[in-house]
Amino acid sequence: MATQSAPYQRELIFGAAIRIFHWLRALAIFVLIVTGFYIAWPFLVAPENSDVLVQGYIRAAHQIFGFVLVAITIVRAYLFFFGKSDIERRSFKDVMSVKSWITQLKSYLWMGHLDKAGVYGPLQFVTYLAISVVALLICITGLVLYANVYHEGLGGLIAPMANWLTALMGGLAPVRIWHHYLTWVFIIFVVIHVYMAVWSGIRFKHNSVDSIVSGYDYHKKK
Ligand code: HEM
Repeated sequence: MATQSAPYQRELIFGAAIRIFHWLRALAIFVLIVTGFYIAWPFLVAPENSDVLVQGYIRAAHQIFGFVLVAITIVRAYLFFFGKSDIERRSFKDVMSVKSWITQLKSYLWMGHLDKAGVYGPLQFVTYLAISVVALLICITGLVLYANVYHEGLGGLIAPMANWLTALMGGLAPVRIWHHYLTWVFIIFVVIHVYMAVWSGIRFKHNSVDSIVSGYDYHKKK
């Protein structure tokens, strides 16, 4: 049980929606990378084999999790702008302040403390913004690929837009290649993201990884 003299202070930083969507998105990205690479190189079916079910199931999983990612990308953008807590939005103040950038970069080099207006430092905020744009682009290229195969329902509805984008990108092959390149951006991001989450928890004596599970941050009392 926490006592009055405990040196650490507990603070709720992430609400349930943000935590649930974080892990759902992590699961979707993991499944999409694995199934996407299989679609690109379907090694389990020999070329002369007419049994295409393996590929079919894997493509189905890719599309299901693809639509999960599309939904999360929309909901997450909504939560950022209109969520009850402004702890994420407040970080934008630091992005616009040169002083905050210098403070963060110095603190990463073990010089001084990291003082933030919100929950993210400026470099972290800009990185998350960039990966959100990449998520949007991979969703758009994924939907363009989808619309080229499924001509009814949603596929038919977005076909005019998908055809326009396909022409703009120089054909379906470049759309596929961009979808593939963007996959690598996610792989590189995930490695750096996990490393930085663990590192910053140790460097700044916060429980950064736990907070996206429990919602709570623990830090020394000021
Ligand atoms: C992190 C997210 C995603 C990753 C890592 C990913 C990865 C991939 C990869 C590597 C391929 C194979 C490309 C190639 O042939 O070289 C692919 C194909 C495809 N992806 Fe995604 N994808 C993602 C999201 C989405 C989304 C959101 C959708 C749409 C709902 C989608 C729909 C498709 C479709 C329709 C194909 C083509 C399947 C086929 O040609 O049979 N993907 N994806």
